[in-house]
Amino acid sequence: MRAVNDRIEVALPGERSYPILLGNGLLGTPGLLDPYTRNQALVVTNAVVSGLYLEAVRRSLVSVDQVDIAEIGDGETFKTLDTYAAVLDALVDKRHNRTTTVIALGGGVVGDVAGFVAATYQRGVGLVQIPTTLLALVDSSVGGKTAVNHPAGKNLIGAFYQPRAVVADVGMLETLPEREFRAGLAEVVKYGVIADQAFFQWLESHIDDVLTRDPACLVHAVRRSCEIKAEVVADDEREQGRRVILNFGHTFGHAIEAVTGYERFLHGEAVAAGMIMAMDLSVRLGRSDDRDRRRVRRLIERCGLLTEALEVDEDALLDAMGMDKKVMDGRLRLIVCDGIGSVSVTSDVPEQTLKGAISHSR
Ligand code: NAD
Ligand code: GLY
Repeated sequence: MRAVNDRIEVALPGERSYPILLGNGLLGTPGLLDPYTRNQALVVTNAVVSGLYLEAVRRSLVSVDQVDIAEIGDGETFKTLDTYAAVLDALVDKRHNRTTTVIALGGGVVGDVAGFVAATYQRGVGLVQIPTTLLALVDSSVGGKTAVNHPAGKNLIGAFYQPRAVVADVGMLETLPEREFRAGLAEVVKYGVIADQAFFQWLESHIDDVLTRDPACLVHAVRRSCEIKAEVVADDEREQGRRVILNFGHTFGHAIEAVTGYERFLHGEAVAAGMIMAMDLSVRLGRSDDRDRRRVRRLIERCGLLTEALEVDEDALLDAMGMDKKVMDGRLRLIVCDGIGSVSVTSDVPEQTLKGAISHSR
């Protein structure tokens, strides 16, 4: 039996605490999922991921009597209420009861839909997240945000709902397309910038090995990212305050995604450009020095994430930023870097300063 290399605890009150089981080649270990499931389970996945990893999930479930599968369409366009309803139908049709467990096997799209299903079916059933993209491993599978999109905007319908466990197996990254892998790295870089200068430095030294998907390097990168996310979520589960720091670069990034119709750039590509803009802004506000700005830009460049996302029209971007959900009481709140490893929230940034940061980042 292959061992779990590591275990990170997301320390929340009472029963809401859960482990992230981290390793390389974990999935498929007989009985791995048994402690987090009961008599029934529904695996939510898509055709791509199911072909690659469904059998390993089955092998990980030894003592579950009934395992059903719900395949959803592949991609963001399927993160809808219709898809959500179809998964609920599958639970009802197969007579799943309140002790069932929804197992999300896939990237952030599958995880977000399956999570929202688990949050609402019979007022909440068990949920296990098995993230298969780098973005899902280091971000979306941890922390309990679940949602589907509405035609009026992304993630408008959802719930905070924590899983019982997350299986973070970097072995599944072997099959991830290169562009998706690099996009996920944007979130990894983010953790260094917001919370851990030493981790940022480690990334600078090991980025070439990370890019070749060296398993030991991937385990370290995912572990440190998950530890930081777990710590922030434990401190502020429902984003009443500190959790907002996880959105460093995202206000710019979300605006880039919005003005390009959510199709031209992957989320991580937009966030990478957004972090470059946020670093420039931080220098303009006297929070970071220019060396920090250049280091972040260089690391993003080495990840292959210096893209045309930086060239989006600045007026359109400013407009879209006004619509971002981080606008509170009519004031745009932005996360700025106070030197690599530390960030804070600021509001009332003059429009010209913001504009300058966007145009200078090209
Ligand atoms: P995704 O789920 O669309 O997956 C990307 C692509 O990779 C898909 O085509 C998928 O089929 C394929 N794929 C997945 N795993 C694979 C593997 N191991 N091998 C080969 N192909 C594989 O995209 P994503 O980037 O994982 O997730 C994006 C979603 O995550 C967005 O909807 C976003 O809103 C959401 N998100 C949620 C949170 C949260 O906290 N809940 C945080 C960040 C992002
Ligand atoms: N992805 C940001 C958060 O989970 O809060």
